[in-house]
Amino acid sequence: MLRVEATLRKERGSMDKPFVYVTRKLPEEQLSALKEEAHIEMWEKEEEPCPRAILKEKAKKAHGLLTMLSDTIDEELLKGAPHLKVVANLAVGYDNIDVEAAQKHRVICCNTPGVLTESTADLTFALLMASARRIVEASDWIRQGKWTGWGPLLLAGADVHHKTIGIVGMGSIGQAVARRAKGFGMKILYHNRTRNPDAEAELGASYLPFDELLEQADFVVCLTPLTHETKHLFNRSAFKKMKRSAIFINVSRGQVVNEDDLYEALVEKDIAGAGLDVFAEEPVQKDHPLVSLPQVTALPHIGSAAVETREAMMRLCAENIALVLRGKQAKTEI
Ligand code: GLV
Ligand code: GLV
Repeated sequence: MLRVEATLRKERGSMDKPFVYVTRKLPEEQLSALKEEAHIEMWEKEEEPCPRAILKEKAKKAHGLLTMLSDTIDEELLKGAPHLKVVANLAVGYDNIDVEAAQKHRVICCNTPGVLTESTADLTFALLMASARRIVEASDWIRQGKWTGWGPLLLAGADVHHKTIGIVGMGSIGQAVARRAKGFGMKILYHNRTRNPDAEAELGASYLPFDELLEQADFVVCLTPLTHETKHLFNRSAFKKMKRSAIFINVSRGQVVNEDDLYEALVEKDIAGAGLDVFAEEPVQKDHPLVSLPQVTALPHIGSAAVETREAMMRLCAENIALVLRGKQAKTEI
């Protein structure tokens, strides 16, 4: 601890504060934990990522970085950031950060678990319901002037209540989704690297091997982090194992899915539909093959996008950076 403080003092001279670069324009009041601690500079745009060249330039002198999931923090960037002590990522997922390289360079990495659990579960369940009951398609249909009369099977979708949900990735968000599913009288199946006895006891969730979950679930909900092991976990053979009436929901990372395979599975009717909050490459354009399918409900990566939650995530990032710059333990270190 002391050693870090001493090094920092030496690096920044006696007067000036450490420098923290924030890769997106954030409301300043959410960063108040850092105000005293650091000189803060922000990328000027809210909805456009900071160009890599600028990020690299800023990283050269930064002691802390507050990053978005759209920034790549890799060996190359870390190598050029000799003063860097901490990277705080405004997300629970951190596949955009090479954590091993960061360890090598003695850079502490932080994410924002906990504060976004319930909001992300809300969105997951909303996407599941929207996909099942064709809510977005139905709303668009009115806007397109197509509502000329009521029809007995017009825009009829699938029931949610009392169906079987299969949750792949039973971390805290998965469990929060399961609690919602329980309220809808759903049967809850899950697959996870390790079994979760608490979820089994509290929620009546049953653990199943991956393939068996795919065979039995009406809604397959992907919440597993993107790692080397989970990349393209959902491929054509996985989709073929699902029921033809199944709906696939992805709120984790696009690359957990082979998107060409998903497209084929939907077109060939291996499965009935998909609700996607994430894509392999974001942002996607409106002519993306998956987005063009009516049985796909597409969202622009808004899992945790409730104002209160996003603000809590910003505050947590700022607190984590301030703690590390003071030589203390971050609250949510990766
Ligand atoms: C969003 O995708 C997150 O990882 O927080
Ligand atoms: C639908 O609105 C119904 O009354 O059945």
